[in-house]
Amino acid sequence: MAFRARHLLGIEHLTQEDIRTILDLADRYVELNRRTVKRTDVLAGMTQINMFFENSTRTQSSFELAGKRLGADVMNMSMQTSSVKKGETLIDTAMTLNAMHPDLLVVRHGSSGAVNLLAEKVNCAVLNAGDGKHEHPTQALLDALTIRRAKGRIGRLTVAICGDVAHSRVARSNLILLNKMENRVRLIGPPTLMPAGISEFGCEVFDDMRAGLEGADVVMMLRLQRERMDGGFIPSEREYFHRYGLDAEKLSYAKDDAIVMHPGPMNRGVEIDGEIADDINRSVIQEQVEMGVAVRMACMDLLAQNLRAERGRAATEGTYV
Ligand code: CP
Repeated sequence: MAFRARHLLGIEHLTQEDIRTILDLADRYVELNRRTVKRTDVLAGMTQINMFFENSTRTQSSFELAGKRLGADVMNMSMQTSSVKKGETLIDTAMTLNAMHPDLLVVRHGSSGAVNLLAEKVNCAVLNAGDGKHEHPTQALLDALTIRRAKGRIGRLTVAICGDVAHSRVARSNLILLNKMENRVRLIGPPTLMPAGISEFGCEVFDDMRAGLEGADVVMMLRLQRERMDGGFIPSEREYFHRYGLDAEKLSYAKDDAIVMHPGPMNRGVEIDGEIADDINRSVIQEQVEMGVAVRMACMDLLAQNLRAERGRAATEGTYV
């Protein structure tokens, strides 16, 4: 079995084989999740703590469901009512929870690199649920699974990632994954929302939707991340929708069978037209949500296997993990 890692901190550290291992197992969990009885016991006896320092609907609820369906004891830390509000640091909070012997820690934080730092301080497996503008690995994996199921492969495809690339950890993780799996990646957006030097990361950059979407197999829209902007990046939302919002006309530049994706939450009428988002013949946005639970089950299952093996080795050597 591939994927021998202790933590899942980013796509950067995964090989093609690791990605295939996760997606193959996730496919099996999709089938389980469609049954009436959705439970297994692969995490029975294990404790999962979810720490979300930033708001979330999809990621937090799917990690919670994933853990429960795998049989773990799942605790959601309410960061709004925690001692973080009294000034306790991220590391002190993590060390405090670590002393309660969790096995899996799921962390979302507003600062890039915060989850990597935390992972160095604890004994359990850490899963990055999104850190600042850095990475959102399970989002890229669920996007890959959605694409693979819709297109029959996750390679040799032209994928257009459109919109606010500069503030998007989703774009970064997807770019890394899609490159690793040998796809052609195009980034489309206004120059103000495109990170400097991004073309060095093995992608083509466009500021015109027509040129960028030409012949695309996958059209992945990004949310305009107002909360991460500290200035005027766009003239107005109306102007932004006119130039970069996905509507029927712009979608017609892509291939006839191109699929439409969005990680959510969506700003309808800003980066995507509501009718396109709801068009079940083109949009796979609801499938992305479904794949999110299965991918998170697969990631936690694999990390738990690695943790058990590591603890088994440590017990033989008389050490402690
Ligand atoms: N895609 C995503 O991360 O959504 P949430 O912020 O709702 O978790």
